[in-house]
Amino acid sequence: MDTAIETVGLVKQFGDKRALDGVDLKVPAGTVLSLLGPNGAGKTTVVRILATLTRPDGGRATVCGNDVVREADLVRRLIGLTGQYASVDENISGWENLYLVGRLTDLPRRRARARADELLEQFGLTAAAKQLPRSYSGGMRRKLDLAASLVGEPRVLYLDEPTTGLDPRSRNALWAAVRARVATGTTVLLTTQYMEEAEALADSVVVMDNGRVIEAGTTDQLRARVGGKVLHIRPTRAADLAQVLRALEGAGLAGASLDAEAGLVRMPIAGDAELTTAVGALASSALPIAGIDTHVPSLDEVFLSLTGAQPAGSGDAAQVRA
Ligand SMILES: Nc1ncnc2c1ncn2[C@@H]1O[C@H](COP(=O)(O)OP(=O)(O)O)[C@@H](O)[C@H]1O
Ligand SMILES: [Mg+2]
Repeated sequence: MDTAIETVGLVKQFGDKRALDGVDLKVPAGTVLSLLGPNGAGKTTVVRILATLTRPDGGRATVCGNDVVREADLVRRLIGLTGQYASVDENISGWENLYLVGRLTDLPRRRARARADELLEQFGLTAAAKQLPRSYSGGMRRKLDLAASLVGEPRVLYLDEPTTGLDPRSRNALWAAVRARVATGTTVLLTTQYMEEAEALADSVVVMDNGRVIEAGTTDQLRARVGGKVLHIRPTRAADLAQVLRALEGAGLAGASLDAEAGLVRMPIAGDAELTTAVGALASSALPIAGIDTHVPSLDEVFLSLTGAQPAGSGDAAQVRA
């Protein structure tokens, strides 16, 4: 299979901060790769380098075989970018925004007009074509933003946190638009803080933290790698949570975490032996326990276990599931 995007040992330094510390990525043409990671992981920096907006300090990156530094002009002709923050012009209508992008990317007038009409239709924005974007809802603006990045029919599309802050309905609409685009063979690099989004759209996932790749695979593989199951232990008294944690640690069990809001301790367990040890530790602690159950880890728990960070906006993510 052709490789659409490749980075090898990508390094980016901002003063003392090493934003990227040797990032290797490979995205086969026509597939969707999700770059997943908490705030500050380096996702946007990767996208900016691949979009020729920032130069790497080390390593190299290519888009459809073209080097992002030496052949930046060629790369720019192949890509579309929807950034984390909307880049639409507030003072001209939705239609004019798309027309302008078309003209800026050298489409003839007639083609630029047709493309603006076509995309508004495709994104269900025809009725709002003549309105200024400031009258649009958040979801409509993101759709306009995405439409703008598709004017030039890019072979490679970067979506940098395209749905952060969107309500679940707008998020689903945007996902549908991305899927339609992928069906035409476009390669997509999607950054997100939502495991759900990665699962909904991506063929494969790369988890980044602190400028490094820490895991790569399909979402199923990531779940499997985190291993087994998660034990949820709910003490009768919320005040006992910390003691439950200590009892488990005292029995040599590592990796438990306390979720005060949910009123439980989560403990990843690799197998039956650990489960038995955990139950034994709780019994000898004599702490009153209201419930113990085993769960297949949620995607958020996988994320937590890989990065040690709560996925930002996991509240929103939970809404999406509901
Ligand atoms: N222009 C910049 N100047 C200084 N530091 C930056 C700049 N851009 C990003 N950084 C830093 O680099 C790290 C990675 O940032 P970023 O790529 O934006 O992460 P993410 O998109 O995953 O949240 C962060 O620590 C951030 O503060
Ligand atoms: Mg970012």
